[in-house]
Amino acid sequence: MSDYPPIRKAVFPVAGLGTRFLPATKSIPKEMLPIVDKPLIQYAVEEAVEAGVDTIIFVTNEKKRAILEHFDLDEDLESHLLEQGKPELHQRITDIIPAGVSWHYVIQEQALGLGHAVWCARDLVGEEPFAVLLADDLIRSPKDGCLKQMVDEYLATGAGSMAVEKVPAAMTDRYGIVSVKKDATGRDYIQAIVEKPAPDVAPSNLGVVGRYILPGEIFALLESVRAGAGGEIQLTDAIAAQLKSRPLLAHAFEGVRHDCGSRQGFIQATVDYALEHEELRQELLAYIETVKGR
Ligand code: UTP
Repeated sequence: MSDYPPIRKAVFPVAGLGTRFLPATKSIPKEMLPIVDKPLIQYAVEEAVEAGVDTIIFVTNEKKRAILEHFDLDEDLESHLLEQGKPELHQRITDIIPAGVSWHYVIQEQALGLGHAVWCARDLVGEEPFAVLLADDLIRSPKDGCLKQMVDEYLATGAGSMAVEKVPAAMTDRYGIVSVKKDATGRDYIQAIVEKPAPDVAPSNLGVVGRYILPGEIFALLESVRAGAGGEIQLTDAIAAQLKSRPLLAHAFEGVRHDCGSRQGFIQATVDYALEHEELRQELLAYIETVKGR
């Protein structure tokens, strides 16, 4: 038993413009792009449910409703698959949201950044600590999923956290970068966070990736950051302010992360997940042999 309240709610910001994937993302969110046969968002929702989350909150935009349709019931398709004698396919779509898990959404009217997207979920989250998952960071872990690892650490310490990994020194300007200090138990507590620093001024090479456990107080900080920044809300600024009153951990997760917001990362994820798939692995390996050296 833990002394701390469980993490039951997870926010999934999916309202970004996804410009790096245009034209594919002109009418569908990049989080609906599939890796093998599941959209990115579904991997992230499964990771959250595995970690104990039972309330899913999507922050989406008015134009991109595909995510809501994906998670909605489709009774016609369900009965069609049953009539066709395809129970495995039927189960694949009914398993999208497991029993006991509810989902909700809120509209981000304008893509004013990640902090703004999280802030849009404030009424649905309330005051309790909650998770944020960015589905375009796809993490394949050998055992427990990344969020489960973070929730276990939170239940042991009561501290929120951000997932981090070492990034190449030349690429610090693509990430939030944290500096950390170990406590007596060997856990890394965040000392400072800087958004996209140039390599020569970066405090470390520990880059933040898209998994967070945050206290409910972050909404008030997002609000004050917004007031200071003329409408824009940066999550990193609110987290930097949060560090003054509450410690946050840097969680170096076990697993492999693919940046599926970039084309290269997306393609690598596809190969990685296909190689893990027993029906696809052998043929893919044979195909790779034929194209080597092309
Ligand atoms: P990104 O920084 O990857 O931005 O967002 P983007 O707009 O989705 O993609 P590019 O850079 O134009 O290709 C990180 C996460 O935050 C969400 C995105 O959907 C993604 O999950 N986001 C970003 C929002 O929900 N709203 C925003 O205003 C910005």
